[in-house]
Amino acid sequence: MVLISGGGTNLQAIIDAARNDLPVDIRAVISNRPDAYGLQRAEKAGIPTAVLNHRAFNSREAFDQALAALIDEYQPSLVLLAGFMRILTPDFVRHYHGRMLNIHPSLLPRFQGLNTHQRALDASEEEHGASIHFVTEELDGGPVILQARVPVLPGDDAETLAARVLEKEHIIYPLAVRWFAEGRLGLNEAGQVLFDNKVLDSPLELESVRS
Ligand code: GAR
Repeated sequence: MVLISGGGTNLQAIIDAARNDLPVDIRAVISNRPDAYGLQRAEKAGIPTAVLNHRAFNSREAFDQALAALIDEYQPSLVLLAGFMRILTPDFVRHYHGRMLNIHPSLLPRFQGLNTHQRALDASEEEHGASIHFVTEELDGGPVILQARVPVLPGDDAETLAARVLEKEHIIYPLAVRWFAEGRLGLNEAGQVLFDNKVLDSPLELESVRS
């Protein structure tokens, strides 16, 4: 199950990987925005889509309850937030504890929240990147599984930097999903990431897991 709000390039990366050898079946794609281009990507791939417009609800709780009911109709084993731009209520997050992942465009814990690329530039960072984490009640604060780094280059603006990061996002999300599907990834009761039955002391790095 993939939740989106926008263009859906991360969704596309997972669709493409699933067409290749990623052992998952995307049961549905849900968007909170009716005009999200990612919906068209899903339709093209023959994946069921649904729109749950948050504007039709008068509270965050009501929206999240309806969203959980919709998701659970599909009984997914994993829920992926892929550019899903909504703050989620604690009840919703707890309901998917250990089975909901998010991708965030920064090297967490740096730059939680929005406008991560501009903020990395403003902070004169030499390195930036993307993170995959389990979703917990703390916004962008759940335990990080995997990160990919990119250099910040002279002359970068938020757009060029975002594009460099996005390329890595499209590698790390399918990889983390693969690990979950293969039973290599989990969350223990203490809220720590388990990878191959061992507690991760620090996030995995794309460059080291690939070599
Ligand atoms: C991605 O860069 C993703 O990391 C980010 O939104 C973009 C969605 O792009 N997510 C967040 O900022 C979550 N706080 P996409 O729709 O092309 O996958």
